[in-house]
Amino acid sequence: MDASELDSIEVGLFVQALQKRHGYDFGQYAPASLRRRVRLLADQLGCKTISGLTERVLHEPQLLSNVLEGLTVPTSEMFRDPAMFRALREKVFPLLASYPHINIWQAGCAHGQEVYSLAILLEEAGLYDRSQIFATDLSDRALHRASEGIYPVKDAQQWSRNYQAAGGIHSLADYCSAGYKLIKLNQRLRRHVTFAVHNLATDGVFCEAHLILCRNVLIYFSDALQDRALTLFRDSLVRGGFLCLGLRENLNPAPHAQDFSPFDSAMRIYRLATHADGNHA
Ligand SMILES: C[S@@+](CC[C@H](N)C(=O)[O-])C[C@H]1O[C@@H](n2cnc3c(N)ncnc32)[C@H](O)[C@@H]1O
Repeated sequence: MDASELDSIEVGLFVQALQKRHGYDFGQYAPASLRRRVRLLADQLGCKTISGLTERVLHEPQLLSNVLEGLTVPTSEMFRDPAMFRALREKVFPLLASYPHINIWQAGCAHGQEVYSLAILLEEAGLYDRSQIFATDLSDRALHRASEGIYPVKDAQQWSRNYQAAGGIHSLADYCSAGYKLIKLNQRLRRHVTFAVHNLATDGVFCEAHLILCRNVLIYFSDALQDRALTLFRDSLVRGGFLCLGLRENLNPAPHAQDFSPFDSAMRIYRLATHADGNHA
């Protein structure tokens, strides 16, 4: 048996232990990247083997938040892919404006950079006070960071450029206070945000949404798990509601491709087709 076969067995046992001990199911994540992250996590925690990591996951429940963070890559940035945010502002928001109340589900929100970006855009479009953003993630630690809205000041320059490229009408500095090494997003931006733990692998429909953003999350999932998540999104959207995926993600070959029609293909924005079997408001 070669090293990679042994690795696969150990990763399989680790995934089983995590599921049986803590209820988190990583069994349907794309195997190559999962294996890489499990190995990295074992290194970071000073475990000589993945089996050593499995033992710690079984016997040290306080490690769980570290483990989830290590497995789920909570990297993000404000106005990531500015052209997508510009498309939201210019093409999607004018259509959402016809609703008296706008529900937005941001699934896999990581440390909240996209949540604050969205709140700023909605504010500038005059829609924020009739919007509610449900920002969810599998990781409670990521959600805690998201609710604090504190980020390294070194990221601010790039994010400010992103904001301008997304069509921002003020300056990003107007929405945050800067210290020596950190910036803190204005907490007023949180006034219509609810942060909640939600696991796309195991939990159910979350809310009745007019817009769902789930960007750079499906890329870590197997086809079957992508299919599960897309079913949840379909069943959560009102008819004609919008779904935004990451720029490297798409609906193919998911069986639900026919439930959505492309709205802006390059920006991976889709619209729930009128014949699809979601929540029809
Ligand atoms: C790379 S980040 C993407 C953040 C943001 N959406 C963006 O595009 O910048 C992926 C996020 O998905 C979350 N995630 C991974 N698996 C998940 C699952 N099964 N359910 C919910 N969130 C999950 C991770 O915790 C992580 O915060």
